[in-house]
Parts: sequence; structure tokens; C-alpha cells
Amino acid sequence: MQRDTIVLPANAENISRAAKVIRDGGLVAFPTETVYGLGANALDLLAVASIFEAKQRPSFDPLIIHISEFSMLDQLAESNDIAKILADAFWPGPLTLVLKKKEIVPDLVSSGLDTVGLRIPNNKIALRLLQEAGVPIAAPSANPFGYLSPTNAQHVYEQLNGRVDIILDGGDCKVGVESTIVSLSGAVPVLLRPGGLSLEDLKTILPQIEHYKKTDATMVEAPGLLPWHYSPITPLRFFEENEEIQDVEDLAYLFFKTPGVKPRHSNFEVLSDTGDLAEAATNLFTALHKLDSINTRIIIAEKLPETGLGLAIMDRLIKASKRPQNI
Ligand code: TXA
Ligand code: MG
Repeated sequence: MQRDTIVLPANAENISRAAKVIRDGGLVAFPTETVYGLGANALDLLAVASIFEAKQRPSFDPLIIHISEFSMLDQLAESNDIAKILADAFWPGPLTLVLKKKEIVPDLVSSGLDTVGLRIPNNKIALRLLQEAGVPIAAPSANPFGYLSPTNAQHVYEQLNGRVDIILDGGDCKVGVESTIVSLSGAVPVLLRPGGLSLEDLKTILPQIEHYKKTDATMVEAPGLLPWHYSPITPLRFFEENEEIQDVEDLAYLFFKTPGVKPRHSNFEVLSDTGDLAEAATNLFTALHKLDSINTRIIIAEKLPETGLGLAIMDRLIKASKRPQNI
């Protein structure tokens, strides 16, 4: 369905307008602290279906539901002690909890799974939108399926113009990578996706968390965690050890820190001059969007340490490097 997309500054009046669009079954892209989301009323089946249509997302990939207060969790999912402790520690924030769902959640949201992902975002605009809409909002990242996540309103507009009713412009996302996803629906808590909440921080509260591995049974639980995702159109590979930087214009470079020798051409981005992982996360998708728009033959990315937010950044880059070239 073709929509007349409007981009609106996220002031009080426009948030109210967007909340009404949500209540009426429309699609609103809005900022969160992680990335922009493409939101619809999570309890309205047709509205949820239109998210899948707009993103061209396969229906086997479940959506995260955003809520504004913990009490809403009980309406949508079976809570438990660990969920309460984690929510106390990290909500609002970049943590999604996967719990057994209640019947009220449409099967389309959960892609037929008996679980649902929930989080309270740490962003004033998102929270106000949720409060005014008065309904839980299902929202995947506001990008076509498999492509780079948006961290500003311009990214959303470039990718989804004509497919969303309102884009609320709330500036740049502070965290810059998607939420950390933890499943609490099985016998042990499992990390399904590293994200904006570091594993180190999570472990201060949940030392027993297990890391999701592709080969184990949790694969069935996370159908959307495809080996490729978060990808630029331009192929991406990692910088090899001892590889020299080449001054060839059809190569683009993504550096973690400012390199000793810079390429003479300008096809490069530095994620953090000082090598700060949180700053690198904030800049990741904007840098990839920029490099992708140059249309070079390849993007060559420097590896980052897989600690702190580096784990989430490397997860996104590894997935980007696995994108099949024919899509
Ligand atoms: O930070 C975020 O999480 C952003 C913002 C908008 O909140 N949202 C986001 O949504 O990244 P999305 O749809 O792009 O990624 C959600 C991931 C998908 O890979 C999906 O498979 C997984 O969460 N997921 C959702 N519900 C799940 C469930 N019940 N069980 C396992 N995985 C689930
Ligand atoms: Mg996504």
C-alpha cells in the first residue's frame, strides 16, 4: 500500500498526532535510544500485517512489542522473578525480554511462537508516544528487511518513504545499535542477540546467562536471527591482519579508530577517534549508510574488540559480511 509519508519534528503536538495514527491502525516511525522503530498497534492484526508489508519482512520473523510501563508486561506475557529483576535494573533501556506470551498478543506479532519480545525504550519521545497511543506498539527497526538499521529520521525517509504514514524526527539515536535480547522462556536465560546493553552489565545481575549458539536448540526460538542481516548493499569484508590500506577509489574503509595512515581518498569513516566502543556503536549505522551510498565495490571493516558494546557491533558487522551477493 502506498502512503503519503510526512516527516514531523517530534514536538508535543506531532506526537499526539502520531499517537492517533497508531490508534487508527496506521504506521509511525519513531526514535528510540537504540534505532528508529516502525510502529503499529500491537493488538491490531491488520496494523501489524502492514508492518510486515512495509518492511517486506518474512512473517517468520517476530516483532518486539514496546510498552511504557512494567504493568503492561503482565497483560501481554507471563512474568517471572528474573524478568522483574532485569526490568528493575535496566528498563527503560536497550534490553528486550522474551517471555511466554498471553493470548491477547496476535500470533502474527510472535510469528506463531508461544513467546513475545518486550521492552520499555529509554527515549522520551517513544515513551510519550506509547502513553498517548494507550496501546502497546509493535516495532521492528524501521528499515527494509535485512538492510541497515536507521539511527536518524533521514535514514528512515530514504528507506521507507511511501511506506509509512508519519516519521517522527527526534534526532540521532543515542545508543545506535539495537537492543540486547534475552530469552527468559526456557530453563536458563539465553542471550539471543547482543545489543545496546553490554553482556558485562547484564552479567552483573544475571551471571548465569548463556550465550546463544547457532547449533543449539535455541535456533528454533529465534527464527529471525538469520546469519546475514543489518547489511549495506555494498559487500563488506573484514580488514585482514597486516593488510595494507590501498588508495583505490572503489574501496571504502570502516575504521574503528583513526588509523596511523589514512587512505588518500575520502571513502572512509572512523567510528571513534579515541577507540571508545560506546561512541563507535552510536556512529555505526550512520557510517555504514554513508559508505554504502558511495557505491564502492566493497567496504573493508576493521575488527573491534568483542567487549562492551564491541560485541554488538561485531555481531552486526559479521552478519553484514555474510550477506549473499544476489539479494
Ligand atoms: O532496539 C531494538 O530492539 C529495535 C527498536 C526499534 O526497539 N527493534 C528491533 O527490532 O531491532 P527488529 O525486529 O529489527 O529485531 C528484533 C529481533 C528479530 O531478529 C526477531 O527475530 C527477534 O528480535 N525476536 C522478536 N521476538 C522474538 C521472540 N519471541 N523470540 C525470539 N526472537 C524474537
Ligand atoms: Mg532489524
